[in-house]
Amino acid sequence: MSKDDQTQFIKTNLKIEPVAGRIGAEIKGLRLSEHLGAPEVYAIRQALLKYKVLFFRKQYHLDDAGQEAFARLLGEPVSHPTVPIKEGTQHLLELNSNDGGGRADAWHTDVTFVDAYPQAAILRAVIIPETGGDTVWANTAAAYENLPEGLRDLADRLWALHTNEYDYAAHHKGTSSADDYYYNELFTSTIYETEHPVVRVHPETGERTLVLGQFAKKILGLSLEDSNHLISVLQGHITQLENTVRWRWAVGDVAIWDNRATQHYAINDYGDQERVVRRVTLAGDVPVSIDGRHSVTRKKVKPIPDNV
Ligand SMILES: [Fe+2]
Repeated sequence: MSKDDQTQFIKTNLKIEPVAGRIGAEIKGLRLSEHLGAPEVYAIRQALLKYKVLFFRKQYHLDDAGQEAFARLLGEPVSHPTVPIKEGTQHLLELNSNDGGGRADAWHTDVTFVDAYPQAAILRAVIIPETGGDTVWANTAAAYENLPEGLRDLADRLWALHTNEYDYAAHHKGTSSADDYYYNELFTSTIYETEHPVVRVHPETGERTLVLGQFAKKILGLSLEDSNHLISVLQGHITQLENTVRWRWAVGDVAIWDNRATQHYAINDYGDQERVVRRVTLAGDVPVSIDGRHSVTRKKVKPIPDNV
């Protein structure tokens, strides 16, 4: 940012209201668009690093193209590696509760089954149920910071295998045939396996954050049983309520999260009401462990269909 921008940044005076003690802030009085100036964009980025997830109400003016154009101010938009983009858009992923795969009701960080998973996501609420359908985010930097020392030292040394080929039915309650199609034909159209450090160093803040969630299948070097226990212990610390913020959506809301420092969970409590949200993700970098080693994708294959 140039000196001029810095001076203007001081004048932007964004109204930032924290939503919970350790994560989440609402930014008020800002109209998100591709026309925001460098000072506002800088202010948003700084707030995102601090609060991990930002909320903006009443962004009714944004359509798909507007959302993508705004996202480009914050980084380089990238498509989901396996799920097709929404027609007529460049990178946008639609999550529709009635269309298979739209209910992300398991704790996860987006796309950790690849090495350079997205750094951030911009999610826009299009159709929201009258009741239910909130999203909860957890701060994985605060979770690391608050681990008991012995667990922190252990986590520092661990690596985990992440994959998009996981037990879908076990992670989601009440899957439908549309969900089965989504998972079998789209989500796993290419199967990835990636090794990540359980603790990565955030490239911008230098904070240590925990990298686990739904795609973490196994801790390397442990038996499956020990691995499951340990993942469960660490996940329990990540999703402790003190590390979380819950957002009650309204149509027109936009949430932006730092995908390198959070996990999230879409609460599946709205029955067959419709819920449609649209997401743009921004290209991320390959995680680095505290001893300077990089994550590695070990497998990227297209499965052979059963009937061949
Ligand atoms: Fe997600």
